[in-house]
Amino acid sequence: MKRTHHCNELRIEHVGQVVTLCGWVHSRRDLGGVIFIDVRDREGRTQAVFDPSLLPQNVFDLAASLRNESVIRVSGKVRKRPDGTDNPKIATGQIEVVAAELEVLNQADPLPFQIDDPDSAAKVNEEMRLRYRYLDLRRPEMARNIRLRHKLAAATRRYFDENGFIEVETPMLFKSTPEGAREFIVPCRTNPGQFYALPQSPQQFKQILMVAGIERYFQLARCFRDEDLRADRQPEFTQIDVEMSFVEREDVYALIEGLLKVLWKEALGIDVATPFPRMPYSEAMNRFGIDKPDTRFGLELVDLSDDFRTSSFRLFSGAVASGGVVKALNAKGLACATQGQLETMTGIATEAGAKGLAFIKVENGEWKSPIVKFLTPAEKETLQRRLGIEEGDLILFAVGEWTMACEILGRIRLYAAEVLKGQGKLAIPENRYDFLWVVDFPLLSFDKEQNRWYSSHHPFTAPVPEDIPLLTSEPRKVRGQHYDIVVNGVELGGGSIRIHRPDVQKTVFEDVLQIPPDIAKARFGYMLEAFHYGAPPHGGIALGFDRLVAMLCGTSSIRDVIAFPKTSKGTCLMTDSPGPVDPKQLRELRIELKTPKPHA
Ligand code: AMO
Repeated sequence: MKRTHHCNELRIEHVGQVVTLCGWVHSRRDLGGVIFIDVRDREGRTQAVFDPSLLPQNVFDLAASLRNESVIRVSGKVRKRPDGTDNPKIATGQIEVVAAELEVLNQADPLPFQIDDPDSAAKVNEEMRLRYRYLDLRRPEMARNIRLRHKLAAATRRYFDENGFIEVETPMLFKSTPEGAREFIVPCRTNPGQFYALPQSPQQFKQILMVAGIERYFQLARCFRDEDLRADRQPEFTQIDVEMSFVEREDVYALIEGLLKVLWKEALGIDVATPFPRMPYSEAMNRFGIDKPDTRFGLELVDLSDDFRTSSFRLFSGAVASGGVVKALNAKGLACATQGQLETMTGIATEAGAKGLAFIKVENGEWKSPIVKFLTPAEKETLQRRLGIEEGDLILFAVGEWTMACEILGRIRLYAAEVLKGQGKLAIPENRYDFLWVVDFPLLSFDKEQNRWYSSHHPFTAPVPEDIPLLTSEPRKVRGQHYDIVVNGVELGGGSIRIHRPDVQKTVFEDVLQIPPDIAKARFGYMLEAFHYGAPPHGGIALGFDRLVAMLCGTSSIRDVIAFPKTSKGTCLMTDSPGPVDPKQLRELRIELKTPKPHA
């Protein structure tokens, strides 16, 4: 080895030993003719001292010429730091290495941004960090994230192995099955005009593995989705993908609760209490206006439909009469909302399809709102009681179709919580983790534009057995055996018990989702066929591994836990991809590009 110790190893007991360290020049200080260099490797930092009275001049000059982030090899004797110069912030802060030899393994050019500045992530724009990702990954925070990711992957593999699961790799070159997100397609040279598609998830393969008798499968699986990107979405991401035979929902819950217990202990030393609470989808929507509620704070939605069913205030009673709801939210203490904040909230409502947003500000003992004059004293009393209205509150109303009304207030709840948190009026505990199973989702949702039903999750989710007869007669009422695992308002994963009977699967494809039989056969025929040859009842789940690691690293962006992520436009700034390909390759693939031509 080129080194005797790593840079986080030397302590007082090493004083007097001759050692060799290798690493990066983290920082260089010239003090009174003596040069101090912090040598850094992935483990930590050690101070090396270059004293001209103890060194040949050429070695001292070499040290003086070093730029930050150059790679060096230093040899010398360990000594105790002079009294009063200890650095308690680093583990090696009591000693230093008195350099006798120096080898420059690679001199670095002047840096595009500094690594030794603890605030560099905040100061440097993300584009620069992604363009020079190898420098960004040297920052201690990023290095820690990448290592924790590895530890969590290792613990995950251990956990599943101990529980009798087998990791099976499924193909990356799959075929196009356009249900769900848009997919990436890959042309196939040997079959001109034919395309593979990259898998959005190993869903179909893992189900086939159950038919193949694997019984307990898992995989840290790479998935690809060509969708609009956000802080919690990447075009290529990793799932902890799981499938089990002969199980019911509770078996999957227990397995995943066990895994999350292990991972929270590993990363944060926290003992997570199990079992996690379960909340039906309808309750999540009614109380929090979202299917992934953050239950660390209140600000719950209140349903006022029954209170206003017979009201003379037509806006409210009319909505109820036409099958809708009247819902309200008391944003406690937010009467001080600025015009801009109120406009943002109104924007949330109109974007979701509402005509506007009714609200009441409670200021100086007065209810300020154009709607107050339409309310009777008894109705005001009801509002007061049901919403616990006090001075300084802001009451927001959403009326109309249930899902829309819930979702509007759900989004406003999250927005209001951010504003109130910023004002110090709402405490959202940072190191509390509220785990929640959201269950009993509707199997199907209706797409008004396309005038057809589509799967709320995916078309392989089994209906609740007693609802199977309703599949074609009353699809709206069919509950799916689907579940989501939610933590602090983040959807960490989702799964379901699957359909394993070919007749039920065929009904879902053809009669419910209205996929014409020939297309269903072309897309999913092999699955239907497999289900005719001994398919065990099965179910599973997939957790977003990047989201999970981000949560345990305490960051809100999954880009901070992926070594080489894409930008929000789906590009890699370091390798400059995607990019054009050679015309010869296109000719071989028999692909002709239409203008605009890519700038080669
Ligand atoms: P689903 O589509 O809900 O289920 O995905 C499971 C989990 O994967 C994560 N995830 C993502 N993470 C980062 N970037 C993305 N673009 C992205 N999309 C999804 C989320 C999500 O909860 N085959 C089913 C699972 C099953 O039924 O077993 C599936 O993929 O955390």
